[in-house]
Order: sequence, then structure tokens, then C-alpha cells
Amino acid sequence: MSQKRSGALAPGIAFITGGARGLGNAIAVSFAKEGARGVAIVDIQDGATFQEGKNKVEEYGCECITIHADVTKEADIERAVHETVTKFGRIDYAANFAGIVGPGSIISDIDIAAWQKTQDVNSTGVLIATKYEMRQMMSQSPISGIEPGRIEQKGSIVNCASVNSLQSLPGSSAYTASKHACHGITKTAALEGREHGIRVNAVSPGFLLTKMIEETVLGGDMSLGKEMWSSFEARQGRKAKFEEVGDVVVLMSLPRMSLVNGQNLFIDGGFTINEANN
Ligand SMILES: NC(=O)c1ccc[n+]([C@@H]2O[C@H](COP(=O)([O-])OP(=O)(O)OC[C@H]3O[C@@H](n4cnc5c(N)ncnc54)[C@H](O)[C@@H]3O)[C@@H](O)[C@H]2O)c1
Repeated sequence: MSQKRSGALAPGIAFITGGARGLGNAIAVSFAKEGARGVAIVDIQDGATFQEGKNKVEEYGCECITIHADVTKEADIERAVHETVTKFGRIDYAANFAGIVGPGSIISDIDIAAWQKTQDVNSTGVLIATKYEMRQMMSQSPISGIEPGRIEQKGSIVNCASVNSLQSLPGSSAYTASKHACHGITKTAALEGREHGIRVNAVSPGFLLTKMIEETVLGGDMSLGKEMWSSFEARQGRKAKFEEVGDVVVLMSLPRMSLVNGQNLFIDGGFTINEANN
């Protein structure tokens, strides 16, 4: 008789950079909903935003710690991993979602410091987080008892890319390059991790109206404007909810996804395969 699957889908420990708000926080909440024993929110936000993000996780009865750490600083991320392991004993699922939009200028006008900052956060930040998450995952035993008969999983890492890991737009060179690099890091980490029972994948969300988008793309540096944003949403098919990204990251993290490694899954309602603007 075949064994039935039962119990929580994701009973392990989740570690989420950029987890205080936006898509990162939606992932934290999705892990909590699916039975995670603990969640670590890693971010550089203010105390109130951290508290709001933590409250949303705790609503589902999941223990949550908040760690102020900058993904561009190795010592910060090493400390964040250490604090999480001291509290919860291990890290089963990592999601690297800290990110910024960067400058919106065309290449002939681009400010190199602003370009560099974008690479520091969106690509080097993903590399640093992956480095310390993988070290921890390599050192721990596989998560037990949730997928009888499957390949054992010591850990899963999901990095946040973007439709800009495939496509581009004038004035998006820094963001586009950083997200292409994110997928490159993911592919290499996937090959390095598999002999250790660690899978590393990326996801590419489509268009979600987070604070980052409100502050930059709609109003600030990039200033694409509301009309352009509406046309993106039209090509995506509709407006999207943050939890539609959170839930996918949880599913990607499960040992049930055992043969999925080094991939970049687009969560965009068909945006990238749609030739039309509607
Ligand atoms: N919103 C979208 O439509 C969309 C689409 C594709 C990809 N993304 C990506 O999703 C991720 C999350 O973005 P969001 O839209 O939820 O925006 P957001 O601004 O709400 O969340 C990003 C979080 O990252 C944190 N962060 C920024 N720099 C950091 C650093 N150096 N160290 C630690 N934390 C840092 C911020 O404080 C913030 O809490 C980003 O990587 C972004 O590029 C967003």
C-alpha cells in the first residue's frame, strides 16, 4: 500500500532576506501558513515595518525572529545565519528577496555609483546570502519525515530574479544586468549544491504593486508612470496578489520538487510569452 502524505507541507525553518515587507514578507507568511516551525525575517527596514511583517507571520502560530542585516555585508549575513541557527537549529528554506530598482537613466547618462549599488544589492547580495545559507545547509542533516521514498533534501534556496532576467527596457540596464546575474548565480549554485542535497532555483515575479514599485517605478527614479504599469498588468492578464508569489516560493522549496534545480520560474500570468500588449 502506498504511503499517504500528511502533515504540514513545509514544517522546517525559513530564512528570508527582504522579508520585512512586500514579496519577501508574503513568502514569510506563506511558509507560516504551510506549517513552518520558524521564520527568520532579514532586512534593513525600520522597527515598525519589521514589527508589522513579524505580526503577519505570527498570526499563523509560527515563531518569527527579525534580524537587521544588510545583504551587501558579509559579516551581517554570516551573523544573520548564525542567529537563526542559534534560535531554531537549522535553515531548511531560504528565499533571497532583498532588492532595489536602481537608476532609471539610459546607459549614456548612467551614474556608475548607482549602477554599482544595484549590483551590490541584487546580485552580490544574492551571492553572499547563498554562500552562508549553503554553508549552513551543507552542515546539517536532511529534513526528516516529510517525503518518504524521495531524495533527501538538506535545503532549498529560491533567489528572486524578475522578468528582467530575460527581457529589458530602455533605462533599466542596472536592474536588468543584476537580475541576469541573479539567475547566473542560481545556475552555478544549483550545480554546486546538488551533491549536498541542496537545490537552488530562481523565480521571476511579474508586476506587483509593492512599496518598491510605488516609490520608484511609478513616482521616482524610473518614472515609467501609471499608464506603462497598466499596460504591463494588461499583458500579465490582471493585477497580481503578493501571496501568489509567496505560495510559489513555498512550493519550489519542498522536497517534492526534488528534480527541479537551477530553474527560473516566471510567475507572471503569461507576460513573458505574450506577444501582445494585452
Ligand atoms: N514588485 C514587483 O513587481 C517585482 C517584480 C519582479 C521582481 N521583484 C523583486 O522582488 C524582490 C522584493 O521586492 P518588492 O517588490 O517586494 O519590494 P520591497 O521594497 O517591498 O521589498 C524589498 C525589501 O528588500 C529590502 N532590502 C533592500 N536592500 C536591502 C539590503 N541591502 N539588505 C537587506 N534588505 C534589503 C528592503 O528593505 C525591502 O524590505 C526584489 O528583489 C525585486 O527586485 C519585484
